[in-house]
Amino acid sequence: MSRGIAAKITGVAGYVPPKVVTNADLEKIVDTSDEWIRTRTGIHERHYAEPGVTSSFLGTEAAKKLLATKGISPDEIDLIVVATVTPDMLFPATACLIQDKIGANRAWGFDLSAACSGFAYALTVGAQFVGSGAHKKVLVIGSDVMTSILDFKDRATCVLFGDGAGAVLLEPTESPNEGIIDFSHDIDGSGGCNLYMPAGGSLHPASVETVEKRMHYVHQEGAQVFKYAVRRQAELACQMLERNGLSSRDLALVVPHQANLRIIRAMQERLGVDDSKVMVNIDRYGNTTAATIPLGLMEAVEQKRLRKGDLVMLVAVGAGYTAGAVLMRWAY
Ligand code: UT7
Repeated sequence: MSRGIAAKITGVAGYVPPKVVTNADLEKIVDTSDEWIRTRTGIHERHYAEPGVTSSFLGTEAAKKLLATKGISPDEIDLIVVATVTPDMLFPATACLIQDKIGANRAWGFDLSAACSGFAYALTVGAQFVGSGAHKKVLVIGSDVMTSILDFKDRATCVLFGDGAGAVLLEPTESPNEGIIDFSHDIDGSGGCNLYMPAGGSLHPASVETVEKRMHYVHQEGAQVFKYAVRRQAELACQMLERNGLSSRDLALVVPHQANLRIIRAMQERLGVDDSKVMVNIDRYGNTTAATIPLGLMEAVEQKRLRKGDLVMLVAVGAGYTAGAVLMRWAY
């Protein structure tokens, strides 16, 4: 069954802050080792934003690069959807800040919170507005400054994440042979307790106590998230192919969320695709949350691993739990 929604990605760009932090650098901060991080996660280095550099800044840089590459004016953008769990502030939305910074004077927009599945969710949401005919140019951005919520006394989480942003442009298509074919998303709120930031919301507003108890940082039960991510990503990807009458042999590239190289390899084994068909860049960026998939798409384009007509699967699991897969035929 195909549920093509007449929207295609016509451009992709990304931005990571220049500062590179290696595993050896982290050895000086927490009780860890380059060997542990590389073998348990696949991460070699990641990029960190300097203090004051925000998700809207990274997202703006990615959006500006995208507009420049496409040669389009910011006035042409109809809608900006920003996936992030590290907004500059709880409000206004990061989308408003980016809209102002790039001068997208006609656009409306909003933020979407789905953690590591955020970009896939935002892509599906943005595509609905294009597919329905409501909009012609939608910017979908994933941007996170994870270092703003990392506890550098918790070695089990602080080594995993990095900062970055990616952006894609969605435009209409009339061809059944290009663009988004199908999407599938779900949430399982029973997993919320395994990956969360306890304070800063209405449950535990910021106080001296929340700061002293280190509640404004990422808390994770890594092993629980690991197992769920492997199982659910493989299930979603397999179901997506099956219900579209396709097999893993038809896939040109899988662009999975980059949380852990072992999660990616276990997922791809269940899906039945070899390394050549899986985009991996976690070694250089770590887990940039909403930015991993657009950064993966950007590098796949740069490395000429995507050609017009190629079948591409995006797949992610994140805090919530949130999960999603998007299937498309590459359009350029
Ligand atoms: O994007 C969605 C968000 N996150 C994820 O998908 C992450 C999912 N989880 C994971 O990637 C993995 O569970 C981790 C990388 C977080 C942890 O790997 P693991 O193989 O599940 O390790 P573990 O938590 O079972 O810990 C094994 C050992 C422990 O020591 P003991 O108790 O065996 O003595 C940890 O204390 O590794 C220790 N450890 C570390 N050692 C050195 C944990 N973190 C570190 C570290 N350096 N950074």
